[in-house]
Amino acid sequence: MSEKAKLTIGDQSWEFDTFVGSEGEKAIDTRKLRSTTGYIAYDDGYGNTGSCKSEISFIDGEKGILRHRGYPVEQLAEKAGFLETAYLIIYGELPTRAQATKFRRLVHDNTEIHVGIESHFDGFPPNSHPMAILAALINSLGCYYPELATNNRQQDLENFDTAAPFLISKVRTLAAMAYRTEMGMPFVYPDPNLLYSQNFLHMMFSTPYQKYEASETITRALDLFLLLHADHEQNCSTSTVRMVASGGANLFASVSAGVSALWGPLHGGANTAVIKMLQAIHKDGDDGTRFIEAAKRKEARLMGFGHRVYKSFDPRAKILGEVCVKVLDELKQEDPLLDIARRLEQAALEDSYFIERNLYPNVDFYSGILLKAIGIPVDMFTVMFAIGRMPGWIANWREIANVKDGRIHRPRQIYTGPGPRDFIPFDER
Ligand code: SDX
Repeated sequence: MSEKAKLTIGDQSWEFDTFVGSEGEKAIDTRKLRSTTGYIAYDDGYGNTGSCKSEISFIDGEKGILRHRGYPVEQLAEKAGFLETAYLIIYGELPTRAQATKFRRLVHDNTEIHVGIESHFDGFPPNSHPMAILAALINSLGCYYPELATNNRQQDLENFDTAAPFLISKVRTLAAMAYRTEMGMPFVYPDPNLLYSQNFLHMMFSTPYQKYEASETITRALDLFLLLHADHEQNCSTSTVRMVASGGANLFASVSAGVSALWGPLHGGANTAVIKMLQAIHKDGDDGTRFIEAAKRKEARLMGFGHRVYKSFDPRAKILGEVCVKVLDELKQEDPLLDIARRLEQAALEDSYFIERNLYPNVDFYSGILLKAIGIPVDMFTVMFAIGRMPGWIANWREIANVKDGRIHRPRQIYTGPGPRDFIPFDER
C-alpha cells in the first residue's frame, strides 16, 4: 500500500497518493490537486515537478550516475558505439547482431538528402547560424517525406521504425551541409563505404581534390562525443520535444522544436560559450584565477559548470576530459585552453563558493576543447550536441506517442497581471 501525502490548509486536510519509481524516486500524485483542493502547485522551472514517467534514462545527481535503459553510461562509453547506444535508447534493449546490422543499414541507406532541400540552403543569408538552419530543415523533411510526418499518431507510429534511423542519418547530412553553406563550399556527398562519424567528417571536410580521412582516434572520439550526448532525462530540449509531441505533432516537427530549445547558452549552447570563455581568459593573460574571482562576485558565469541535477559530478564530463587528453596527445596538439580548463576545474573543486553551490564541470566543459581539436568550428558545437541528442529526442517522442489516450501538455499558471478593466479610447490614454 503506497504512503499517503497529507495536505492541510487552514482547517481542511486532504490526502494524496504517492508512488515510487524503479530507482527509488518518490512522487506525490498531484493530478487531482486542483479539482480536490482548488490549489495548484507552483514550481517555476519545474525543478520539483515530474512531467512524466519514463523508462529511458536515469540520473542520480547526488551520486553522479547516468544510465540508459539501466546500462551505466561508463560501460556504454567503453564497450558500445553511438548507433548501438542509439538503438538501446530508442528500443529499450541492446541490439542483437542482426538488429544492429539492420539499424546501421537503415541509417546508412538514408544519408542522402532530397535534392529539393539543397536549394533551401541558398535561401539563408551568409553566416546564418547552423542551428537556425538545422531546426528549419529538420522540420522541412516532413514536406519532402510526408509519409513519415502525417500528424496522424497511428500512422506516424507505424512508420516510426523507418523515421527513426532516417532522422539519425539525415541530421548528420543536414549539419554538414549547413557548415558547407556557411563556408561557401560545395556540398560533399556521403561515401557509402564510411561509418557514421567518418561519413560526417568526410561530408564536413573533404574537398573536390582531397578526401578527408579521419584517424581511428578522431573517429572514435567523435563517436564517443555523440554517445555521451545521446539522452539525459527531461532536460530543457527533451521536455520541449515531449511538449510538442503531446499535441500530436510528428517526429520531425517535435525534434525541430528540440533543436531550437537546445540552442540556448544555458543548455546546449554552453559548449560554445565555454570555448569563448576560455579564449577570453587566455587572451586576458589570465590563468583563470581572476575569472574565478569574477564568477564569485557574480560578474561572470563559469560556463560548463553547474547542473540542475548533478550535484556531485557529471560522469560525461569525466569521460570527455580523458578523451580530450588522448586526442590532443595523438594530434600532438598543445591547447592552452585545456590547461586553463584544468586549472579552472581544480580551482573550483577546492573553492568553497563552488563547493557550497555544487558546481562541477558538466558535459559542456570539455566538449568544446575536444571538438576544437577534431577541427569542428565553434559555431557548429551545438549542432554536434544536437546530432548526439537525436536518439534521446526520438525515444522520448516514441514514449509519449505510445501513451494510450495521452493528454496534451498544458501547464497552469498563477496570474499576477491587472484585474478586469474597461477599454480606454486613444484620446483618454
Ligand atoms: C546542459 O538538464 C540537462 O540535463 C542539461 C544537459 C543535457 O545533457 O541535456 O546536461 C546539458 O545543458 C548542461 C548545462 C550547460 N550550461 C552551462 O554550463 C551554463 C552554466 N551553468 C549554469 O548557468 C547553471 O549551472 C545551470 C543553468 C546549468 C543550472 O542552473 P540552476 O540549476 O538554475 O542553478 P542556479 O542558476 O539557480 O544557480 C544556483 C547558484 C546561484 O548562486 P546563488 O544565487 O545561490 O548565490 O549557483 C550559481 C548561481 O549564481 N551558479 C553559478 C553557475 N551555475 C550556477 N555560478 C557560477 N558559474 C556557474 N556556471
